[in-house]
Amino acid sequence: MRAVDIIRKKRFGGELTEQEIGFLIKGLVDGAIPDYQISAWAMAVCYMGMTDKETAALTLAMANSGDTVDLSSIAGVKVDKHSTGGVGDKTTLIVAPLVAACGVPVAKMSGRGLGHTGGTIDKLESIPGFRTELSRDDFFAQVEDIGVAVIGQSGNIAPADKKLYALRDVTATVESIPLIASSVMSKKIAAGADAILLDVKTGDGAFMKTPEDAAKLAAAMVAIGNQVGRQTVAVISDMDQPLGRTIGNALEVREAIEVLRGEGPEDLREVSLVLASHMLVLGGIAGDTDAARRMLETAISSGEALRKFAAFVTAQGGDPAVTEDLSRLPQAPLRVPVSSAEAGYVLGIEAEAIGLAAMTLGAGRATKDDEIDYAVGIELAAKPGDFVREGDLLATLYVRADDMRAESAVQSVRAAYRLGVEQGEPRPLLHGIVQ
Ligand code: URA
Repeated sequence: MRAVDIIRKKRFGGELTEQEIGFLIKGLVDGAIPDYQISAWAMAVCYMGMTDKETAALTLAMANSGDTVDLSSIAGVKVDKHSTGGVGDKTTLIVAPLVAACGVPVAKMSGRGLGHTGGTIDKLESIPGFRTELSRDDFFAQVEDIGVAVIGQSGNIAPADKKLYALRDVTATVESIPLIASSVMSKKIAAGADAILLDVKTGDGAFMKTPEDAAKLAAAMVAIGNQVGRQTVAVISDMDQPLGRTIGNALEVREAIEVLRGEGPEDLREVSLVLASHMLVLGGIAGDTDAARRMLETAISSGEALRKFAAFVTAQGGDPAVTEDLSRLPQAPLRVPVSSAEAGYVLGIEAEAIGLAAMTLGAGRATKDDEIDYAVGIELAAKPGDFVREGDLLATLYVRADDMRAESAVQSVRAAYRLGVEQGEPRPLLHGIVQ
């Protein structure tokens, strides 16, 4: 077999066999096929696409290119959750203890944030003492014991995806639905869950800018899951504005705790409940999403969900008292108000601009080696639908120093607010379910 023949076949729209795809992925990992040939093939895929069969073969080849986790020794249907990435998206912090409180075991690997989107691992590490590196035995024992554990992704999960993604990033071949779908699903499959709930984000702050593209990506990922025997459901949710009111690690933990207490912003609570209800159905705990929702609401109102979160934090070395006393989370020394330059109804808040402003303050990483400041971030005071007068508070910045970075973030946050004279129709929080 020769890489050049496989590239040519794809270039002219042919369907690659499992053996041809396996040959490319093996060559990518062991270095037998040079980067330029892999990149040329990725470009051919961008133009010609892949069939469901090819996409499933690529996913499995990448999933099996490194370590795979076997969760079968843990009783019950293990349900993983994955978000395609958003601004202010702290749903995993809510959903993981919430579904565990209802009896679905969660054995999850999560990522760190990069660019304008945050990562669950960074958020958890903002809780004093919290450890996201556990040995395999401790990880399994914790799930058996309390039903939930969340750790950082091991370095050798789907190494083929890591290499391919690095090439795609520099050859303008990221934006291909079969390549994104196989990249996400290869990591989920290697991580061992029996069923997968995907939160595919759409809007200004998401990879998929339109609900139509998000639905195509969702359908591709659900098709992969079904082809490889992992029941998969995708919820398409809105990311045209940040989710909830806070952006920044400790601020997001605070808001997640508020939702687990039965408080917190309505949009965050609603998206979390929708995701969690599908997880209870996938986990075989509830017959349908209405029954699931009732169980979840009871877990919150009874305090069981918050107690599960505290047990999860304790098990991973963190300070569980944060659930009662939010001031034990890292606190930024200064608060800087962002006021409105004009009067009007808030029509939208550009999620990507807010995510980038939070990154400028130190809440996120521009490159993977950047240090994070857990305490800093942004709290949105005005949300779409609200009326603001000139000088009213739009947002508060939590900063380390009132310096040039803070000033630049003030300008960016103010510019991210779109105001108008009429109230405008609210965007839906949810755009559909693919199963
Ligand atoms: N996230 C991934 O994990 N892979 C992609 O290709 C795009 C987003």
